[in-house]
Amino acid sequence: MLQLSSLSDIRQHTEMLRQQGKRIGFVPTMGALHEGHLSLIKAAKSQNDITVCSIFVNPVQFNNAEDYKLYPRLPEKDAQLLAQVGCDVLFLPTADEMYKQKAKLTFDFGELERVMEGAHRPGHFNGVATVVSKLFHLVKPHQAFFGQKDLQQFAVVQQLVQDLSFDLELVCYPIIREEDGLAMSSRNRRLTPEQRALAPRLYQALQFLNSKLETLPIEEAKKETETFLRSFEEIKLEYLEVVHAKSLQPLEYLAEGEPVALCLAAFLGEVRLIDNILR
Ligand code: PAJ
Repeated sequence: MLQLSSLSDIRQHTEMLRQQGKRIGFVPTMGALHEGHLSLIKAAKSQNDITVCSIFVNPVQFNNAEDYKLYPRLPEKDAQLLAQVGCDVLFLPTADEMYKQKAKLTFDFGELERVMEGAHRPGHFNGVATVVSKLFHLVKPHQAFFGQKDLQQFAVVQQLVQDLSFDLELVCYPIIREEDGLAMSSRNRRLTPEQRALAPRLYQALQFLNSKLETLPIEEAKKETETFLRSFEEIKLEYLEVVHAKSLQPLEYLAEGEPVALCLAAFLGEVRLIDNILR
């Protein structure tokens, strides 16, 4: 596996690949890789000639300095995992080079970011859109792979690609979970054993909400789910939403045939986790 760090190296390399007529599949990540990330690498590999993965803990998308500082960083182990699944190119830029000049352009995704992650993490999607735009320009992929785990991020990136006419196809893959249902996340490494034991309750809460929606109106089903979660003292729910799966706007009632997503964010101690299911 080829490892590149400088912006000019990745630019030149992907330019050369394109001239050779190779199809490039791209998986942007922040590292501390797990099976969720690797499922995206495998998908990219199966549909392209060359798979590029980037690992970059992007400072401008963190609205919490402590979260940025404590974000797990495991570059050697990540490189090993990527080589094992047959990733061709690992791009590991430095923050100094990526943000040599502080980015001044700001993105506003309107309604899409007034809810959930956008509402609770000010500036987060601006940071995501900035780095994803840079990475798309550098890597020049034909396809880029994202996880449903970050459903709102996928919607934001779709908007970005549409509004700025990026010439690439976006692909979204399902959430990979631990055996007990916990959605895999790099942040799971930061949970204490007690918090880790409680964490599957988040997915259970989404399933509970899903079953309550069979018989109850949305507001009541949400209230019952909030009560269920309140019984676990260490879990601090930040939001629980029933939204349209594309617009991500909260729904007042369920309409026949509309794609629906149930989403939540919660703190276990200092660690903030998100999860969702599609209905
Ligand atoms: P990161 O959290 O490392 O996630 C990289 C990709 O892996 C994202 O598309 C995410 O949705 C996907 N992913 C994470 N957990 C997953 C799981 N359990 N199952 C399937 N896919 C999963 O998302 C980011 O990084 C950053 O915001 C980034 C897009 C790289 C921009 O900095």
